[in-house]
Amino acid sequence: MAVDYFAVRPGNPLRGASRVPGDKSISHRAVMFGALAQGATHIRDWLPAGDTEASLAAMRALGVPVDRLSATELIVRGGELRQPDAPLNLVNAGTGIRLLAGIMVGQPFPSVLDGSEQLRRRPMKRIIEPLTEMGANIHGIDHKAPLTIEPARLHGIHYTLPVASAQVKSAILLAGLFAIGETVVTEPGPGRDHTERMLAAMGVDLTVDGAVVTLRPGQPLRPMDFTVPGDFSSAAFLIVAALLIPGSDITLTNISLNPTRTGLLAVLREMGADIAVEETGLQAGDPVGTIRVRHSALHAVAVGGDVVVRMIDEFPIFMVAALAAEGKTTVRDAEELRVKETDRLRVMTAELTRMGARIQEYDDGFSLDGPQTLRGAHVDGHDDHRLSMSLVVAGLTADGDTRVDDARCASDSFPGYAETLVALGAEVAVRKPDDG
Ligand code: S3P
Repeated sequence: MAVDYFAVRPGNPLRGASRVPGDKSISHRAVMFGALAQGATHIRDWLPAGDTEASLAAMRALGVPVDRLSATELIVRGGELRQPDAPLNLVNAGTGIRLLAGIMVGQPFPSVLDGSEQLRRRPMKRIIEPLTEMGANIHGIDHKAPLTIEPARLHGIHYTLPVASAQVKSAILLAGLFAIGETVVTEPGPGRDHTERMLAAMGVDLTVDGAVVTLRPGQPLRPMDFTVPGDFSSAAFLIVAALLIPGSDITLTNISLNPTRTGLLAVLREMGADIAVEETGLQAGDPVGTIRVRHSALHAVAVGGDVVVRMIDEFPIFMVAALAAEGKTTVRDAEELRVKETDRLRVMTAELTRMGARIQEYDDGFSLDGPQTLRGAHVDGHDDHRLSMSLVVAGLTADGDTRVDDARCASDSFPGYAETLVALGAEVAVRKPDDG
């Protein structure tokens, strides 16, 4: 099938101010939690992207009325879910299917959760096991989607996450809302905490003590007004592009600075990046602020341990930054990258190799010696939004033009990616194969 592509021409510095679309993690949660609350939840600056639209469609299929005031403004009229007529299709959204599974196991009707071929390949044992331990009736052949769920009585559990996954933590906590007794989840590292912040704001009896989250069910969720902050994970592409392209100086406003998400900032600063951050307020439970980035010479660092989960979605773009840094970059403890939308270690290494990069892949990370000069090439985004967008940034730093096949998938999390880069001065266009 012919896919549209990004045509990327390097050279121009990025300059000026920009915003990015709403946070994906918070947008998924806002529609799902709003559906569970008794009354109208008003959501502003919601992310209208492939992944989050799939969650919204699923809530509608569950009988939840949603007023769409604009692409980014919604009113979710929560209170009661009803049995859907057909399997719920979460398309490519791992967050969508895993969080929704936590909700559906607590409902008095059966359901089936499914998605794209890509989603059907992703591991679901990590949620099936703890939910089953809670008494849930949830099955998938080979522990993969489609997931078949039957009604069951749930009880709270004490569970230590074997992998640092906010999706698994959230699925268990959501099931805990429908269980008898308290649910206690212990995390191996500081994973993203939007579920905790948002449920607590909606009146759920939930406490966090270091790595231990305790939820006591019983209180109805209060409807909320949420203004979704800009997604740091989307800002990351612009941050790295500005750091790498000489002459760049950009300011990004209204970005979530939730510390469980900003590991990349800490690592880039350690590499010598000129990044100034100013906190300006609080939105949907997250600190938000302005990030100013100026072109900087970077030096290599070693990345591993606790920071990995705080930058888990940023490794594709970090790999591009590392190629520009002086010295040997090493990443370890990042084996989770192999079970994202793609095996991001393998695919990112392969695509950057087409641009002339030399990268040593490990089971749980990679190493490379920099700086390396990339050459423009014809590369592929593999239906993985973060890969496709990272390759665009690689193209902006390369010698010669680059074509990144699969521009569409960028809008799974960042609608308007090319337009945002163009507004900052970059030469990026979305083309169809017949445009030549
Ligand atoms: C997410 C959690 C992370 C992250 C994903 C969004 C969430 O996944 O990679 O993009 O919203 O909870 P894991 O829980 O699999 O680490």
